[in-house]
This record gives sequence, structure tokens and C-alpha cells, in this order.
Amino acid sequence: MQALDLLLNRSSQPKLQSPAPQGQELETIMQAALKVPDHASLTPWRFIVCQGQGLHKLGELFYQAALTEGMSERDISRAKDLPLRAPMVMVAISEYCEHEKVPRVEQIASTSCAVYAMQLAAQALGFDSMWRTGAYAHSKSVKQLLGLKTDDEIIGFIYLGSTSTKVADKPKKQTENYFEFWN
Ligand SMILES: Cc1cc2nc3c(=O)[nH]c(=O)nc-3n(C[C@H](O)[C@H](O)[C@H](O)COP(=O)(O)O)c2cc1C
Repeated sequence: MQALDLLLNRSSQPKLQSPAPQGQELETIMQAALKVPDHASLTPWRFIVCQGQGLHKLGELFYQAALTEGMSERDISRAKDLPLRAPMVMVAISEYCEHEKVPRVEQIASTSCAVYAMQLAAQALGFDSMWRTGAYAHSKSVKQLLGLKTDDEIIGFIYLGSTSTKVADKPKKQTENYFEFWN
């Protein structure tokens, strides 16, 4: 796939099934994450790749968080199944490194680039993905259960897999609504 085709036509896919990337293709996707802009080379990114039993482990963690945080009965009953919406879920974490020139927001920006890079790489290889967050990305309990520190951030849960039902193309946005020129 041509780079510009990918950038201009990529899309997320909420309904994902097997296969998820494996082997050399997964390695390529992970390498794409490690190639993003990174001020002062702090490498503030960490990823947990969940598949198979790992998806159940992540669901159990959501369930524990839902109980601890007194979420609704509906949330509690759904928690264990959330990661099962794809054959692979990557937890993308921004691990804060104190640095005089690189504030936390820049480290989060770099981790966000890593997520996007993996989405693009996955699509280039014929896979599909969906970047999700929701309550568990911002949950203190989930952070604790994952061993994160207060300043670390869960940037997202990247659902990865394949799809046979492509979502409809969205209308193209107009550049003039978002860009102004200072000539
Ligand atoms: C940081 C971030 C968090 C997101 N969290 C969710 C989410 O929890 N649930 C959801 O349906 N979409 C979420 N999205 C949006 C989807 O990933 C996706 O971008 C959106 O559905 C638009 O589709 P598109 O990427 O094909 O334009 C999130 C996007 C970002 C950037």
C-alpha cells in the first residue's frame, strides 16, 4: 500500500476477528511504534500485548477495577468480556520520565504517535484496528493493577485483528475549517 493512500484512507474498525498479526508482521507493527518522534530519546512507551489467555487476564483486571470502583451492575457484568472484542489488545502506556526539557504532555504525545503508527502499520499489512479508551483507561485501579505510577498514563487499548465488514467511508473534511495560513 502506498504511504499516502494509507494516510488518506485509513479507518478504524470496531468489529474485529481473527487473525491478529503474528510473527514477522507483528514485529513490523511493533517496530513502527518504536520509530516515532521522541524528544530527548526518553522512550516513554510501554505496551502489553494481550492475546489468548492474556485477553482473559485483562478482562479479569477490568472486572476487579469495576468492583473496586463501585461501577454499575451492567459495567461489572460486561467487564470480563470487553477485551474479547478482538483477538489481540495492546495496552499502550506512557511511562513518565522526569526531564527538565520534556514535559509529561510531550511524552504522552509521543506514545500517541506510537499508537497511531501501529494502527497504520497494521492497516498497511492488511489488518484492522480500533483505538479505545473508556473508563478503564482512566481508572486508578487499572493503573494500580498494571503496576503503573501516578504520572504514568494509559493512552489506549488498541484492538487488533481483521474484518470482513468494512465501515462506510466518512465524508471528507475541509482543510479550511482547521488550518489557517499566515503568509
Ligand atoms: C485517544 C482516543 C481514544 C478513543 N477511545 C474510543 C473509545 O473508547 N471508544 C470508541 O468507540 N472510539 C474511541 N476512539 C475513536 C476511534 O478510535 C476512532 O478513531 C473513531 O471511531 C473514528 O473512526 P476513524 O478512526 O475510522 O476515523 C478513540 C480515539 C482516540 C484518539
